[in-house]
Amino acid sequence: MKRYTHGHHESVLTSHRWRTAENSAAYLLPYLRPGMSLLDVGAGPGTITMDLADLVAPGTVTATEYNAGALELTRAEAARRGTANVEFAVADVHALAYADDTFDVTHAHQVLQHVADPVQALRELRRVTKPGGIVAVRDSDYAGFIWYPELSELDEWLALYQKVARGNGGEPDAGRRLLSWAHAAGFTDVRATASVWCFANEADRAWWGGMWAERILKSEMATTALETGAAVPADLDRISAAWQRWAAESDGWFLIPHGELICVV
Ligand SMILES: C[S@@+](CC[C@H](N)C(=O)[O-])C[C@H]1O[C@@H](n2cnc3c(N)ncnc32)[C@H](O)[C@@H]1O
Repeated sequence: MKRYTHGHHESVLTSHRWRTAENSAAYLLPYLRPGMSLLDVGAGPGTITMDLADLVAPGTVTATEYNAGALELTRAEAARRGTANVEFAVADVHALAYADDTFDVTHAHQVLQHVADPVQALRELRRVTKPGGIVAVRDSDYAGFIWYPELSELDEWLALYQKVARGNGGEPDAGRRLLSWAHAAGFTDVRATASVWCFANEADRAWWGGMWAERILKSEMATTALETGAAVPADLDRISAAWQRWAAESDGWFLIPHGELICVV
């Protein structure tokens, strides 16, 4: 990854802090037991991480981020919630500094779509997971997003996002590819499922649409789009206004599909 596409602007964190183990890791929950050790890579704002820590307590969650600044966000969430059974480390998922067979469960939510080599990332997660343990990954699939009304500016938004994310070395249409990446990494026992987020009521539309209206102007994605010439300011203004229109539309509906895998080591 040359650059993390979203960055950690407050407008990005607004969306990531909405996430819970229930709405983002339900496929993993049946496998968790008190006392397990769990590695969460790319923990970011850490809301899912702390839910997972509650579920495996008195076991420990090791939360990692690829730089110290991002890890501070995870630490802040642990402090806010008073989560005690969590440890922190800076780590790149491509090369983890843990011994083989260290964790019962390793987990990455919306991370593989951003990394330069998702197959290597999965090999590393497998290496540090105990035999019989689980590698759990979930990623959205941008080309599969569906929305209504059919605003052409949101088509522009999607194409721009895909261009910027790929320019950063990621693969935004990751959900459909997870199973192939797991097979390439050598997994043979893989349970592949899918689940969605759907934003369709007034509060969800105001939050999701308002968040993207700001994010397209102020987040790392905007900076990269302008720096690389993928967009000019007028493009971002037009897309931002369309997100506001979508949010105000009582018929507005948005669906985000995800691929998810339970890979047994
Ligand atoms: C979309 S966020 C997901 C955060 C969190 N898992 C969640 O779902 O709320 C992706 C995270 O992956 C991290 N990341 C990106 N590349 C990484 C890498 N090579 N190794 C570890 N983390 C990475 C980013 O810093 C970012 O916080």
